[in-house]
Amino acid sequence: MPIYHKLGKIPRKRHTQFEKPDGSLYYEQLFGTIGFDGMSSLLYHIHRPTQIKSIGEPLDLTPKIAVAKNILSRKLIGFDVQPKDDFLDAREPLLVNSDVHVGLAAPKKSMTGYFYKNSDADEMLFIHRGTGTLKTFLGDIPFEYGDYLIIPRGMIYQIEFDTEDNRILYVESFHPIYTPKRYRNWFGQLLEHSPYCERDYKLPQNLKAHDEKGEFVMKIKKQGMLHSLVYATHPFDVVGWDGYNYPYGFSIHNFEPITGRVHQPPPVHQTFETSAFVVCSFCPRLYDYHPKAIPAPYNHSNIDSDEVLYYVDGDFMSRTGIGPGYISLHPAGIPHGPHPGTYEASIGKKGTEELAVMIDTFKPLQVTENALKIDDGEYYKSWVE
Ligand SMILES: [Fe+2]
Repeated sequence: MPIYHKLGKIPRKRHTQFEKPDGSLYYEQLFGTIGFDGMSSLLYHIHRPTQIKSIGEPLDLTPKIAVAKNILSRKLIGFDVQPKDDFLDAREPLLVNSDVHVGLAAPKKSMTGYFYKNSDADEMLFIHRGTGTLKTFLGDIPFEYGDYLIIPRGMIYQIEFDTEDNRILYVESFHPIYTPKRYRNWFGQLLEHSPYCERDYKLPQNLKAHDEKGEFVMKIKKQGMLHSLVYATHPFDVVGWDGYNYPYGFSIHNFEPITGRVHQPPPVHQTFETSAFVVCSFCPRLYDYHPKAIPAPYNHSNIDSDEVLYYVDGDFMSRTGIGPGYISLHPAGIPHGPHPGTYEASIGKKGTEELAVMIDTFKPLQVTENALKIDDGEYYKSWVE
């Protein structure tokens, strides 16, 4: 996250004695990425963050692949993913490769009995339904419908829901998730042509340090396994921190669409980037205003990237038979385009209310067993007239 942020109390100078009220010392931790080269924060703990008491049996969460080499366009009925109580149990990986796992979850209960950390992947949670609070050891981020939550790898968190009706699109990215480089200046500030700016971010707030000893279960995802470690001190014992490595939120409703006289290509919708995939936001916007404009997209051959669209709300103008929570997969290797009738029907329309999240991956995606269970199986034929 290329903005400096700080919460709580920190010593005037880094790596110096920082005394508790009783004269003993707080424990400093450098929480960094990409060796010592990436973004980092300096944290001050009440207790040493290294006190492991015991470890349980790991659980293998490796996605089960049904179609390793896919050529079919697919439509997944996302809301058919069944709600489950636990946040991690509820996650169903659907489309995966060695760079990214894309899945859906409908968790009912808040995470209270344990803490969670993904040590392999940055996580992006897109909140389709539900409100609550992302609680981390660097502070809290309240969330609501339309929020992206970007959680850098290693972040210890819990998620608290206000009700049982929650729907989340999640991404585990094995590469850091950044804002698009072309929207940042040499110093990292978002430029004037960026579709959003720093004011739109939801930064962590309300840092609360828990000075507690006991048994604290931390579930750590690493190399596809979920390890269960018991720590002797409360993981949220940070009294203060500062730096650049922390979770943040951004609402899709704050994405300001870029429009033109003729059809604008998908990169104008880009919201986040990694070295292996991009995330785009398709938001309500005015249509192209050339007198002869065709607002629906042209057919396109994304010959070397797989396109995943998650439909959130509104009518999706280039598709028929699509509802909220659906996922379409248009794989590399074959062209795709508007459904019959939608190309012509878009002419003369002034705007769209569509809301969707797109994930384009540079490597092909594999289709999991979970995905096949909610695959309509007919979608690839839906362009035949
Ligand atoms: Fe497309």
